[in-house]
Amino acid sequence: MYDVEEIRLDFPILGREVNGEPLVYLDNGASAQKPQVVIDAVTRAYSQEYSNVHRGLHYLSNLATERYEAVRGTIARFLNAGAADEIVMNSGTTEGINTVAYSWAMPRMEAGDEIVLSVMEHHANIVPWHFLRERQGVVLKWVEVDETGALAPERILDAIGPRTRLVAVTHLSNVLGTRVDVTSICRGAQEAGVPVLVDGSQGAVHMPVDVQDIGCDFYAITGHKLYGPSGSGAIYIRKERQAEMRPFMGGGDMIRDVRRDEITWAEPPMKFEAGTPGIVQQIGLGVALDYLMELGMENVARHEARLCDYLRSRIDGLNWLNVQGTTPDKAAIFSFTLDGAAHAHDISTVLDKKGVAVRAGHHCAQPLMEHYGITASARASFGLYNTEADVDTLVEALELCRELFG
Ligand code: ALA
Repeated sequence: MYDVEEIRLDFPILGREVNGEPLVYLDNGASAQKPQVVIDAVTRAYSQEYSNVHRGLHYLSNLATERYEAVRGTIARFLNAGAADEIVMNSGTTEGINTVAYSWAMPRMEAGDEIVLSVMEHHANIVPWHFLRERQGVVLKWVEVDETGALAPERILDAIGPRTRLVAVTHLSNVLGTRVDVTSICRGAQEAGVPVLVDGSQGAVHMPVDVQDIGCDFYAITGHKLYGPSGSGAIYIRKERQAEMRPFMGGGDMIRDVRRDEITWAEPPMKFEAGTPGIVQQIGLGVALDYLMELGMENVARHEARLCDYLRSRIDGLNWLNVQGTTPDKAAIFSFTLDGAAHAHDISTVLDKKGVAVRAGHHCAQPLMEHYGITASARASFGLYNTEADVDTLVEALELCRELFG
């Protein structure tokens, strides 16, 4: 049974107050809080088991290497990758997508080649492709979402043409909570011979992920949104794609041999992990993923779906509240504006006075803001430890905003 009150006890920060009110943490889309097991794992790694990895032959280096490398297997299990060496560990989704841009896309794309992406991508899945546009004349083909914020797979597939070299799409919008049927997109794109990169930064947090079932070529995740340490993360890269990639970051650990006039690379995934990695961050991420797998991602998804339904029932009829993204199966991420003059930042400030933490701004998704004709919104994004009482506090605080701002 999913006992949210028990689960909350695992997260020490949830017991604190903010501005004299109990904390209601609804900024999980930006970063999630950490369970005690992760905090303890990080402390233990630094206080008892720390050394650099892959380098020394001494006891601590072997121990740290063992702990760090075990996480690769944990991530592979979490994503159901076919093999642990399809997992490249890194600092998060931004680094993962940049790795694909520099190591896979740049060497193989020419002026006039196309990348298909949706308007609801996070900047992390936009800016690296703009680099290719600016530097190599690659064309970005934008696909709109419909009036509910849904992205039908056919819209992406219809945009694929003879010059399309990549589809880059989110699994779940960080602003709208829209889920994208990436499995259908991958199936169709594969028929057209086009690889697919999935930005799983939010998707992997809110639902079970099976990269083999999805059939994607690249799937990027971020550890700090998965209840792990900041600076941790990974990207799944299908073996065939790895073979096509040149490393873009050079340094220690990613080589086989370095001579004065010659260099050979280590085998993947090490080939794409230059320099000393985020050893302790990754160890913490491994513990966070074990924690999630023990809870069961289906159970997390079910719990969050209940919260989503409850929030919808509470705001139904509040006609001064404009919610962006209304697909029936959306995740519990609510972005909204209020009728009248209240700016998202003002809404966030009022909510903060009530102990409610939300994000306000463009959420690193400016093309989507443009699609909705707004410059900013406030966003309440729920996590596995949120409760119906959190929803009630949010709605009361929004009603207060309504009173204050008219
Ligand atoms: N990508 C994070 C967010 O959506 C920072 O808030």
